[in-house]
Amino acid sequence: MYKLDHKSILSAVAVVSLLATSAFSSSSIVSKEDISGGLQYPIVKEQTHIYRVNPNAYGLKLNYGRAPTKNELKAWDIDVMPDGRGLPEGSGSVEQGEELYEAKCVSCHGDFGSGGGGYPALSKGSGPELQKTLTNNRWKDPEADGPVRVFGSYWPKASTIWWYIRDAMPHTKSKTLSDDEVYALAAYILSINEIEIDGKELDDEYVLNREKFLKIKMPNEDGFVPNIDGPNALKDVRAFYKNPKNYGAIKVEKSKRCMKNCQEPTAKVARVVGAGISDFHPPISVVRDLPEVKVDPSHKVTFDAKSAYEESCVMCHGNIAPAAGDKEGWKPIIAKGIDKVYTNGIKGTNNGMPALGGTSLSEDEFKKVVDYMLK
Ligand code: HEC
Ligand code: HEC
Repeated sequence: MYKLDHKSILSAVAVVSLLATSAFSSSSIVSKEDISGGLQYPIVKEQTHIYRVNPNAYGLKLNYGRAPTKNELKAWDIDVMPDGRGLPEGSGSVEQGEELYEAKCVSCHGDFGSGGGGYPALSKGSGPELQKTLTNNRWKDPEADGPVRVFGSYWPKASTIWWYIRDAMPHTKSKTLSDDEVYALAAYILSINEIEIDGKELDDEYVLNREKFLKIKMPNEDGFVPNIDGPNALKDVRAFYKNPKNYGAIKVEKSKRCMKNCQEPTAKVARVVGAGISDFHPPISVVRDLPEVKVDPSHKVTFDAKSAYEESCVMCHGNIAPAAGDKEGWKPIIAKGIDKVYTNGIKGTNNGMPALGGTSLSEDEFKKVVDYMLK
C-alpha cells in the first residue's frame, strides 16, 4: 500500500506511532493519546495489527521521542554479568555472611540454606557432588532419586547469585544490602555449597572480593545445551533444535500396528488437576520444618529506634513524608496530639502511611521510632 523507506521503518520501530494497515481504511484509524503521552492502538476483531508508518500520507505530527540520556540508560543497566560487567568492587567474609544470613535470611531459607515451608533451598550440601545427580532420570523408575537443582549443583554462573541477592533479597526488603554485605552473603552461600575458588575451600575467614569472585567456576557451567554464549550462539541453537533427539522428543507412530518391538507405553506422568500438579511419585513433602528460632532469655536486646527508622521508615519519610527531625514538616501532624499520631501510625492512614509502617514492630517499639522521628 505504501512504499516504505528505510528511515520510516526505523521510526516505526523507535517511536511507536501512528499507523495504517492494509486492513484498516484510513477513516477507521482511531488512536487516542493515553495518559503517558503514548498512543492507544485500535483493536479490531480482538487483535492489533502490524502498524506501518507513513507520516506524510496523513500529514500527522508524530512524536519521535528522543534518545535516552546516559543517566536513563544507567538506571536500566543493572545486570551483573559473568564477565564482570556490573559487578562492583567490595568484599565480605564467609563469617560476616553467616551472621547476615542468620539475621536476614534464615527465617525463610532455613538453617544452612536448607529451604522449607515453600521457600527455595540455597544449598543441599556439596554442589560439585550434587551436580552429578542432574542426569538422574525417573523415566524408568519413578521411585528413584531425581536431580537436585540448587545454586551449587545447577546454576551455570555465579554472577547470578550476586545480582539476585543484591536486587531481590531479602524478599520483603530488597535493595537494602550494601555491596560488601552481598559479597559476604555470596561467600557464605558458596561455602555451604562447598564451591572452591582457585582450589581453595571457603572457610570462615575467607574474604571474597571482586577479583576472586570472577575466578569462580560453577560445577555445572558446561552442563547446559545448547550453548547460548559466544558468536556462534544463534547457529548452535538452531542446529540443536533441528534434531528432536537432542531434547528427548520421541515421535509417536500412532497408525503403525505392531506385534513386536512395539513402542513402550509412556511412563506414569503427573497430571495437572485444577490449579496444580497433584500426583507426584514419590510424594512431595508438605512438612513445614523451619527451625524454631531460639531466644536466650538472659540475652536482653535493647531496641534501637534509629536503626529501625533507617531500616523501615526512611524510604518514605524524607521523601514523601516528613523525615526524622524535620520539625516544620511534623508540626501540622502533631498539632492533633501525640496519641492520635501514634494511633494513626499504628493503624495506618489513607494517605499513604501503611499500618506500623509496614513493619512487624510491636506497638511499643513503633512508638519509640515515632518519638525518635519527632525529636
Ligand atoms: C521473607 C522471606 C525471604 C527472606 C527473608 C529471604 N528470601 Fe530469598 N527468596 C525468597 C523467595 C520467596 C524466593 C523465591 C523467589 C522466586 O522464585 O520468585 C527466594 C529466592 C532466593 C534465591 C534464589 C534461589 C533459587 O534457587 O532460585 C536466593 C539466592 C535468595 N533468595 C537469597 C536470599 C538471601 C541471601 C537472603 C537474606 C539476605 C534472603 N534470600 C532472604 C524469600 C526470602
Ligand atoms: C510506604 C511509605 C511509608 C513508610 C514505609 C512509613 N511511612 Fe509513615 N507516613 C507515610 C506517609 C505518606 C505519611 C503521611 C500521610 C498521612 O499523614 O496520612 C506518613 C505519616 C506517618 C505518621 C503520622 C501519622 C498521622 O498522620 O498522624 C507517623 C507517626 C509515621 N508515618 C510513622 C512512621 C514510622 C515510625 C515508620 C517506620 C516504622 C513509617 N512511618 C514508615 C509513609 C510511610
